[in-house]
Amino acid sequence: MPPQTVNRQWLLARRPEGQVVVDDFRRYDAPLPRPDLAAGEILVRNLMFGFDPAQRGWMDDVASYMPPIGIDEPVRGSAVARVIASANPAYPEGAMVRGLFGWQDFAVAARAGEADPVPIAPGVAPEEALGVLGAASLTAYVGMLDVGRLGAGDCVLVSGAAGAVGSIAVQVARLHGARVIGIAGGPEKCRWLIEDYGADAVIDYHNEDIRARLRTLAPGGIDLFFDNVGGATLEAGIAHIGRFGRIILCGAIAGYNDERPAPGPRNLMRLISQRAEMRGFILLDHLDRVPMAMNQLGQWVRGGDIRYRADIQYGFEAVPETFLRLFSGASQGKQLLRIDGTE
Ligand SMILES: NC(=O)c1ccc[n+]([C@@H]2O[C@H](COP(=O)([O-])OP(=O)(O)OC[C@H]3O[C@@H](n4cnc5c(N)ncnc54)[C@H](OP(=O)(O)O)[C@@H]3O)[C@@H](O)[C@H]2O)c1
Repeated sequence: MPPQTVNRQWLLARRPEGQVVVDDFRRYDAPLPRPDLAAGEILVRNLMFGFDPAQRGWMDDVASYMPPIGIDEPVRGSAVARVIASANPAYPEGAMVRGLFGWQDFAVAARAGEADPVPIAPGVAPEEALGVLGAASLTAYVGMLDVGRLGAGDCVLVSGAAGAVGSIAVQVARLHGARVIGIAGGPEKCRWLIEDYGADAVIDYHNEDIRARLRTLAPGGIDLFFDNVGGATLEAGIAHIGRFGRIILCGAIAGYNDERPAPGPRNLMRLISQRAEMRGFILLDHLDRVPMAMNQLGQWVRGGDIRYRADIQYGFEAVPETFLRLFSGASQGKQLLRIDGTE
């Protein structure tokens, strides 16, 4: 490959109105980043992008746990990258790192507190660093165990169960002796849930009525509902929450592309009669648990106790279409993209 003369970028061209579309993004060839690094900075070359539904929220002009992505800025997103120049001894030249390096070939990164680049251990592939050993799995782990206080014998419901977070949440619950019901879209994803991830029962929300199925599958009520979807799915879970049940709000992907927030849930009274609780969480508040969770997840992966899927698309030009796969249900596991022209 001839040396690259520009820094390819995908910029946020405008704020999406409702459903995010490819035209919300713009391809731009920026100059290569300056070679002179300030103390503490590193220059990285991105090799693989990881896509997260939360990126859709960062595109809105709404204050959240992260500032909105600016118009004409490269879209903020995770990547695995190679350090190609370093003024920071914690990240030597040649090391592999994971970080929020954005939709571009090259990025200059500095220590930035919570968004510090994470060194990747030798032998860990980029798809593992962004996938089963990445933020989605850590979210599932702390959400299920620390926030959800999973107990052996719990009847657990997981929505978005075939996705990156959900598939690990299902398996963490199973490995702790829970009975797990997963909700996913379509027979193929429901089959993975049973055969690969070890769910005890599944609900195909494209073809089945969630409430009716829950009446059959969990007549005693749900002890712990790990919700990635929100909307009507959350309402169905609330309707079937058991006495002293816990509802953990991890995500609400069904509403990320709504132009206006949908009303509801309309049945919060059920939390009172069931003495149940509902709590949101963000992984960033649990970073002290990450080393332990990574260690445990690594052991499970190496021991074959946890299975996972990575959906790897290819080529820098395909970045926006790949992001859209998260919202159509096309993604077949953790959504990734290998960047062309890299090692
Ligand atoms: N709280 C935190 O710290 C934290 C951290 C990471 C992620 N999250 C949240 O966790 C959730 C899952 O993230 P992920 O990375 O694992 O994504 P993902 O599940 O890998 O990808 C998206 C999947 O969501 C499902 N989906 C899309 N639109 C839907 C809709 N309208 N209704 C129901 N399901 C829909 C699709 O699966 P089907 O084909 O089964 O519909 C799709 O494949 C997201 O809501 C995300 O924002 C939270």
